Amino acid sequence: MSNDYLGILVNKENPLPSDYIPSDMVPVEIPFAYIGDDNRNYMREPAAQAMENMFRDSTAAGLDLIGVSGYRSYDRQKSIYEQNLAVKGEAHTSLYSAQPGQSEHQTGLAMDISTPSIGSALSTDFEATPEGQWLQQNASNYGFILRYPAGKEHITGYAYEPWHFRYVGVPLARYLDNMGLTLEEYYQNSMLSPKNRVL
Ligand code: DAL
Ligand code: ZN
Repeated sequence: MSNDYLGILVNKENPLPSDYIPSDMVPVEIPFAYIGDDNRNYMREPAAQAMENMFRDSTAAGLDLIGVSGYRSYDRQKSIYEQNLAVKGEAHTSLYSAQPGQSEHQTGLAMDISTPSIGSALSTDFEATPEGQWLQQNASNYGFILRYPAGKEHITGYAYEPWHFRYVGVPLARYLDNMGLTLEEYYQNSMLSPKNRVL
């Protein structure tokens, strides 16, 4: 199974090769806080489609979501990590920023989402907004999981990030949401290797 597997587990123990670039990325047609020349508005095609559907339905519900950061190359993650390390130090950085190769953003399946009412910030304030609440309740119906939940820091290796959503497809997202499981727990409970599971 290749690294293109939609259920792929990427974390501190399971890195991607530095030269991995998804082959099916497209721009996500949603509002973004900022679009540079770094393809941060891109995701893999199935994730982009699901994200657009989720944004469309959230708008219909009167909410105001905004995309902040989708795909990141290995090199871009490297500079983000190194900048965080220089400014915030090792302890903080290891809880919030993946080392290059260890970020889900390199898969093209993750998106950081916020709302203009909190300045489009990636902060725990997002949790209390109607937009953050709506995502926690509805994201799995579009195939997304809240990847770094509160209380699971010791399992995921990262602090609570109410803004980081990861596409895994609808069946797996609903299963994980219903069971209250992280992707790490799902694979720990499995007899099969991460790359061979279909649900
Ligand atoms: N903030 C997540 C862990 C990342 O850097 O990919
Ligand atoms: Zn993220």
